[in-house]
Amino acid sequence: MKTILICVLALLAVGQGRAQDKPTMGWSSWNTFALNINEQVIKGQASAMRSKGLLRVGYDHINIDDGYFGGRDKETGQLLIHPTRFPNGLQPVVNYIHRLGMKAGIYSDGGKNTCGNYHGGDKIAEGVGLYGHDQQDCDFFFKELGFDFIKVDFCGGVSYHNSEGLDLDAEQRYTEIAQAIANTGRTDVRMNVCRWDYPGNWVQGVAASWRTTGDINASWGSVKDILKQNLYLSAYCYGGHYNDMDMLEVGRGLSKEEDRTHFGMWCIMASPLLIGCDMSNLSGATLTLLKNTDLIALNQDTLCLQAYVVQHKGDTYVLVKDIERLYDTTRAVALYNPSDVAVDMSVKMTELDLDGTVKVHDCFGQKDLDDITTGQLDVTVPAHGTRIYRLEAERRLERNLYEAETAYLGKYQEIFNNQWYKSGIYESNDACSGRAYATWLGSDPQNDLLWRNVYSDQGGDYTMTIKYISGENRNITVNVNGEDVKTLSCNSGNWNTVGSKALTISLEQGENVIRLYGKSSSAWMPNIDCMTLQPVGKSGRVVVGIEDVQSSSPSAVSTQDSRFYTLSGQPVSHPEKGIYIHKGRKISKK
Ligand code: GAL
Repeated sequence: MKTILICVLALLAVGQGRAQDKPTMGWSSWNTFALNINEQVIKGQASAMRSKGLLRVGYDHINIDDGYFGGRDKETGQLLIHPTRFPNGLQPVVNYIHRLGMKAGIYSDGGKNTCGNYHGGDKIAEGVGLYGHDQQDCDFFFKELGFDFIKVDFCGGVSYHNSEGLDLDAEQRYTEIAQAIANTGRTDVRMNVCRWDYPGNWVQGVAASWRTTGDINASWGSVKDILKQNLYLSAYCYGGHYNDMDMLEVGRGLSKEEDRTHFGMWCIMASPLLIGCDMSNLSGATLTLLKNTDLIALNQDTLCLQAYVVQHKGDTYVLVKDIERLYDTTRAVALYNPSDVAVDMSVKMTELDLDGTVKVHDCFGQKDLDDITTGQLDVTVPAHGTRIYRLEAERRLERNLYEAETAYLGKYQEIFNNQWYKSGIYESNDACSGRAYATWLGSDPQNDLLWRNVYSDQGGDYTMTIKYISGENRNITVNVNGEDVKTLSCNSGNWNTVGSKALTISLEQGENVIRLYGKSSSAWMPNIDCMTLQPVGKSGRVVVGIEDVQSSSPSAVSTQDSRFYTLSGQPVSHPEKGIYIHKGRKISKK
């Protein structure tokens, strides 16, 4: 019994991102210096990060990427540090970084060697990966040297990259490494998984962030492609766990508009923000952009959300996310135009679940604009450009449209062939709302689709309409908050027509989980376009019935607690009209 308990506790402790951790901010050596790093370079960057005021706005990691290795001691297996690049070893560098009030990051590989050894000709770096040395190296990095962060690459684990022909199981390797980090006794080390694609939902249990794409480079094509690959991954981002769109190329040759899109979208999509340029030689415009506190606030927001797509017209996208408080009147929106021509973009406030007069703050210009009183935001967005606003509306509407491409897929992964692995994917389909759907679901009850954040202000019965595509008879079982409600037999006639099925479901007040799955382990589900929700007996949109009655927060109840309390602090399960405390605020329920 005791052993089981210890194992369970150890597993819980395995390198998981801590819920309160925001996306990592800092600098990483790779984009500018590649393998040409040394003690002076790293110390110089650390000192520049502080003197340029970047530390003050949140950039607090100095991460040493590939290039510091000097082989391994043949007898003891001890990792060696490059004799000319770091003649004094890494300890003085870590100490220097820590003395400046920053955190220090290091780099390794899940296999025998790193990418710099296989592809960059760094021949001295022989056998320096973690493979076979997990505990020894983790003790060295985190107990002895005091590093706070590690990026673990995988060239050594993928046979087409490495010269040993090693094909390692990423889940197993990263779990072992996370365990070795946990064994050091450090609970504050952040691990970044660098497997160049979303590796599977197991990664949430072992890492604080994970790369979702191949390497970035300082070109518009690269930034645009990385954004495309991340637009539908919002469901896999939450407190302490982030999709990493790679290090920033801001200040390295993109146009002004492209730099702004790159930085702004990384911010609103909650990617780690690791500066990749030479901080000792920054232009004024680059520094101003990197220090834009309105954008940084979206990245470091307490809700830790990645914005999701609510509109895709032509080549453009509109993304939105809650900030500060869930299901409330303040949201951040991005209007993103990746095309090569300027586009007049327009988004209705109802598409953003907002209503009434809306105050607008322009995050790039860092200034308030005119209120929106027409129910619509119209803006011309230049080629490769993005506009990002913080919106504060009079009223919040209950979300009534849930796109499949904003849902969580239980077996989502991008490493293996998804048909063989039986894991769902998101795909473009112009017949669908949002012009995308989730496909290859089913054939395994775990290969399901979940909307994990369905908020109902009052609770009660809703008409749920599921839109789907299936050219043959296929089943969907609808499960609400863990209980099966109904199995629907679906056939939309062909593979390009959207069909729909409606049913009544009962939602609890607050957050609900709606799951669509197939019970059979041999039958695929229909492709899922979206679902809509409408409370039975009501027409039109439902206003979230919360209104501030005073701005100061009553201290008794935390802002994270989404239950309703009476003014004397008693929880209330189904509040009627009246005055309550909700999420740390005094509110009036209408
Ligand atoms: C790549 C990785 C890059 C960089 C490089 C170092 O695999 O994606 O970000 O770390 O290796 O060799």
